Amino acid sequence: MTDRYAVIGNPVAHSLSPRIHAAFAQQTGEDIEYGAILAPVDGFAAAVGTFRSHGGCGLNVTVPFKLDAFALATTLTDRAESAGAVNTLKFDGASALGDNTDGAGLVADITIRLGLPLAAKRILLMGAGGAARGVVLPLLEQKPALLAIANRTVEKAIALAARWKSRGNVRGGGYGDFADERFDVIINATSASLSGDVPPLSKRACASATLAYDMVYGERATPFLATAKSFGVCRGADGLGMLIAQAAESFLIWRGVRPDTGPVIATLSA
Ligand code: ATR
Repeated sequence: MTDRYAVIGNPVAHSLSPRIHAAFAQQTGEDIEYGAILAPVDGFAAAVGTFRSHGGCGLNVTVPFKLDAFALATTLTDRAESAGAVNTLKFDGASALGDNTDGAGLVADITIRLGLPLAAKRILLMGAGGAARGVVLPLLEQKPALLAIANRTVEKAIALAARWKSRGNVRGGGYGDFADERFDVIINATSASLSGDVPPLSKRACASATLAYDMVYGERATPFLATAKSFGVCRGADGLGMLIAQAAESFLIWRGVRPDTGPVIATLSA
């Protein structure tokens, strides 16, 4: 019988995950079926229960259910614990393994696809919400010279940095605290673009060789990348590569095979 997987979210109709996983299945020859489940905002556990009772093997979890998935998991990986959120569930009998592949996806996209090693680099992470929390530890594991976390609500950035200070050189503060420092990589992990805003990027933080990386993708990524470009940054990337790389990590967890993301990124960005 074909193994069943799905992405669960609200909304979910826009999700690229079914196309991505169909491409992975074709590429690797794995016999899987991958759908999309729209769950009511207060009906995550019930929707997961129904999926499991019909033989569902695993789920990708998107907005707004990553904390519900964290609570539902019977076992958590270290990276899910550190993110405080789950984006991948794998079911085995009564057990539900909760993992978080977002950080690994971001790191793989930057270091492998974009070919930029993060070791000894100076990284500015803009934002201290759920998206930022999911990537701090995987970024620190790359041994950057500095991971600066800047946020509008300064205390959140300071608390996030304090939590991980034993794992590397990490500092938290307001945007102004880092405005005069140069960075090799600047990552937008805020949700500012959802309201048409750009987080306060400093021109002095940017050099032509800086990589500006927006964790969102598509049109919404453009205002941040356009601002970076206007400050002289020559390299920019949106979060499509991260989306596909985190999906590849999920596929690996479920199927034991890591798909090649390159062809899928090429197809979807075309
Ligand atoms: P999520 O968990 O979905 O990432 P969140 O926890 O609300 O959502 O975090 C959103 C992030 O985007 C936060 O860092 C938020 O800054 P605050 O913590 O100060 O709210 C940031 N953000 C949202 N809108 C922003 C804006 N217009 N300018 C700058 N930062 C913004």
